[in-house]
Amino acid sequence: MKTKIIKIDPLKEIEISLPSNILKRGGLVAFPTETVYGLGAYAFNEESVRRIFEVKGRAQDNPLIIHVSEFKMMQEIGIVPEKYEKVIQKLTPGPITFVLKKRKNIPKVVTAGLNTVGVRIPAHPVANKLCKETGPIAAPSANLSGKPSPTDAKAVIEDLNGKIDCIIDSGSTPFGLESTIIDLSGDKPLILRPGPITVEELKEIFGEIEIPDFIIKGAHVKTPKAPGMKYKHYAPDKPLFMFFKDDREKIIKILERENGVVICPKENVRYYPENRVIVIGMLEKPYSIAQNLFRVLRSFDKSEFDVGYIEAFEESGILFSVMNRLKKAATIWR
Ligand code: TXA
Ligand code: MG
Repeated sequence: MKTKIIKIDPLKEIEISLPSNILKRGGLVAFPTETVYGLGAYAFNEESVRRIFEVKGRAQDNPLIIHVSEFKMMQEIGIVPEKYEKVIQKLTPGPITFVLKKRKNIPKVVTAGLNTVGVRIPAHPVANKLCKETGPIAAPSANLSGKPSPTDAKAVIEDLNGKIDCIIDSGSTPFGLESTIIDLSGDKPLILRPGPITVEELKEIFGEIEIPDFIIKGAHVKTPKAPGMKYKHYAPDKPLFMFFKDDREKIIKILERENGVVICPKENVRYYPENRVIVIGMLEKPYSIAQNLFRVLRSFDKSEFDVGYIEAFEESGILFSVMNRLKKAATIWR
């Protein structure tokens, strides 16, 4: 299949009818959001949604998020508890997904048979306009299953060129990390995936909020609430280790012998041999680390180095969300 690649500048007038028509006719379109690129199908076309699973090599029991353009469309997909209406409207559009009890007409293939559905209103003008013109779009991240999520069109092309109908290229995604997921279908709000909206912010907004064990420990638990969290994720093909600063001296000693490279923030570059570092952003601007994370993991795979060593981050704010991804992408070094 020939994949149509179209450039859309999010800062100019957005002409969305071509990709929207592809979706309406049952095609698959990769599109930018403010978090990562998504691989979309019209949510009510079961056949197209099924193709998403095939193309990505995604497990059948891993549900998809439905993207909508506004709150009213969200209410047509899931049941929004009245007590959360105000906060949801305050947080959207934005990098956050709400798990809600699903409406009856939502295809089973989208929710992998669950009675809940993840819904998100993207703020990215291209994603938002695409949903507005097309209707609800089911979309996971636009990578092959297990690979780092794509934060620019180049990464999407790497994984999906020739396999889908269209890729919209709108440059790099602003946050670079997938949306925060919060489950509002039960008695208490429950964080299912930390993301750009931080745990601290959520606590402030929701007051009492539950953080399950599998998020704190990053462990692979048997039946995590977000089915996707049990799979190995975001991993480069080459071995990647995460280490703590107490082990810095030991790591420096083995770099040469193993043809290894250290991935660290700009502030710490000075500790390592000049030709064996990849910079991932600045501690002083922690969101820059989230923004670069997946791109750096992909570029490490293509580099001349054989083994990667990434510095662990202090687990607060956005770096808590970064560490959540790293615990799945890397092996802890001991
Ligand atoms: O930022 C994002 O959320 C991106 C962009 C494209 O919107 N999408 C994304 O989708 O990251 P995906 O499929 O890569 O990750 C969605 C996660 C999976 O772990 C899945 O299991 C979980 O959301 N999920 C989806 N629906 C759910 C539901 N009803 N209950 C619990 N978890 C759900
Ligand atoms: Mg994903």
